[in-house]
Amino acid sequence: MIHSRNRRLRVNESIRSLVRENILTTDDFVMPIFVMEGENQQEAIPSMPGIFRRSIDLTVKECKELFSLGVKSVNLYMKVSEHLKDNTGKEAWNKDGLMQQTIKAIKDAVPGMIVMPDVALDPYSIYGHDGIIENGKIMNDATNDALARMSVSHAEAGADLVAPSDMMDGRVLAIREALEETGFTDVGIVSYAAKYASSFYGPFRSALDSAPKENVEIPKDKKTYQMDFHNSREALNEVFKDIDEGADIIMIKPGLPYLDIVSKVREAIDLPIAVYNVSGEYAMVKAAAQNGWLDNDKTIIESLTCFKRAGADLIFTYFAKEAAMILGKY
Ligand code: PBG
Repeated sequence: MIHSRNRRLRVNESIRSLVRENILTTDDFVMPIFVMEGENQQEAIPSMPGIFRRSIDLTVKECKELFSLGVKSVNLYMKVSEHLKDNTGKEAWNKDGLMQQTIKAIKDAVPGMIVMPDVALDPYSIYGHDGIIENGKIMNDATNDALARMSVSHAEAGADLVAPSDMMDGRVLAIREALEETGFTDVGIVSYAAKYASSFYGPFRSALDSAPKENVEIPKDKKTYQMDFHNSREALNEVFKDIDEGADIIMIKPGLPYLDIVSKVREAIDLPIAVYNVSGEYAMVKAAAQNGWLDNDKTIIESLTCFKRAGADLIFTYFAKEAAMILGKY
């Protein structure tokens, strides 16, 4: 006769909720946002149904809505005009640049919103790379100097945290030192510590027109700086280095196919862990839901909850607004 019956604790929703181990709330969400030049402009991103590029005024309006739904953090990406791109990325630290104006506008209108600008050169690079290129090579240390300048200019505009997504070696230290020297001791760093070279970034690159250009003199992918998806121990090596250099929050990216990495890093560190539910993951769920092959709402809530189960504290997700609305329904 069996005595141990696991189904006892699954009899109804009340008992299931009593023994539930992980709960998803809007407190966990960071919404990535795409910004473009202009006024009262909004453009749909075809491979990301429901996601738009917006001018600053409409971005501010969106931030107000997000905040009222309980989403208290945004991660910012700029669509940079072609004529402002070069190989140095200098537009990235223009104090009147699109990013700097956007940070100011959001902080003015919604002071409680945590604003995390992306720190990487790819949207500003004529080559679509996260680093400065010389003789066909990504120049690590020269890129770090640029990223440090960019981070300080984000802090001057009012950023709460900066989020370097470039994967150069030593950039967390370079950014931390630059922020300390300029007095921005309270501006934190969300470090993309374990970021893999992934095909799941496709829709994002088309949203910003930032894919590496097809040019024989430059690397056509990001494999010399982003991690190899065959590896997992290497992620811990990256994470420990970034912590030593002064990271405040550790990011793992992509998300759903990389939950083993989230779980492994969770066992190893006590710093907050962020996970990025990237554009390709968003596109897959949306495409299936639009075809009636998956239940949209249930799939979103299940996937986001799985990030928490794996050990993440923060979830960067294009579903943030929609998930906040779904959670509000129950
Ligand atoms: C680039 C950057 C990328 C993403 C965030 N920052 C793309 C890349 O590394 O090529 C991807 C985000 C997504 O796919 O949602 N610094």
